[in-house]
Amino acid sequence: MNALHPELTAPAPSAPADEVLVWAEAHFGERAAIASSFGPEDVVLIHLASIHSPSVRIFTLDTGRLPPETYELIGVLQRRLALRIETFFPQHEQVEQLVSTGGHFSFRESLAARKECCAIRKVEPLRRALAGRRAWITGLRREQANTRTAVELIEHDTTHGLAKLNPLASWSAAQVWDYLRENHLPYNALHDRGYASIGCAPCTRAIKSHEPERAGRWWWENADAKECGLHVTGGGL
Ligand code: ADX
Ligand code: SF4
Repeated sequence: MNALHPELTAPAPSAPADEVLVWAEAHFGERAAIASSFGPEDVVLIHLASIHSPSVRIFTLDTGRLPPETYELIGVLQRRLALRIETFFPQHEQVEQLVSTGGHFSFRESLAARKECCAIRKVEPLRRALAGRRAWITGLRREQANTRTAVELIEHDTTHGLAKLNPLASWSAAQVWDYLRENHLPYNALHDRGYASIGCAPCTRAIKSHEPERAGRWWWENADAKECGLHVTGGGL
């Protein structure tokens, strides 16, 4: 049983991703949505959902600073899988104020300034993207970072007041890439240029082969605190 919806039996903590998506389809349907930045994990989820949870929606947060390669990938996926993707942009008044006062690279000035930019360009739009939904589905994996080792398959997101499903929580990066290859799925062209994890263009760079996969995100910050604010809460049902 789960505390969020007592009448439902949630998949076991070790359930496979497809089982979680079947459950999401049955219990949330179109009131569940995949949050996609079109990283390899999100492409896996979108493909699995096209088979196991066709009613589930897809949304993306377009910060206005994404690399062109990400937009190219979105176009390829839309054509290939006939996707309908809901796009959420930041509030233009907030971006105008941010850039007018701090310039286009205010996020380089301090951690607080970086968090302010992420708050305006990602966290506030996420709030709107989740309004009225009962569950969101992410590509978070425990292996991605020290900040993610406690990610559970199904959580209660106390910040937004809905279920948060992380069907790939236990997957390794190799499993993700095997899935993409086996299913001939497209991926961001930046991955062939040494990028592992991809977010906004000015806050993402390529990594060396020995570096952890998120080393190219906000590379000037401490690795133990590198989160943009999208994934602040955890906690099982
Ligand atoms: S981030 O918080 O540091 O940006 P990361 O890039 O690792 O996160 O992505 C983890 C998951 O967060 C993705 O699989 C996706 O579910 C969600 N996510 C991250 N960025 C976005 C975005 N721009 N739009 C929608 N979902 C996103
Ligand atoms: Fe701003 Fe960088 Fe955060 Fe993107 S990742 S919202 S550009 S600080």
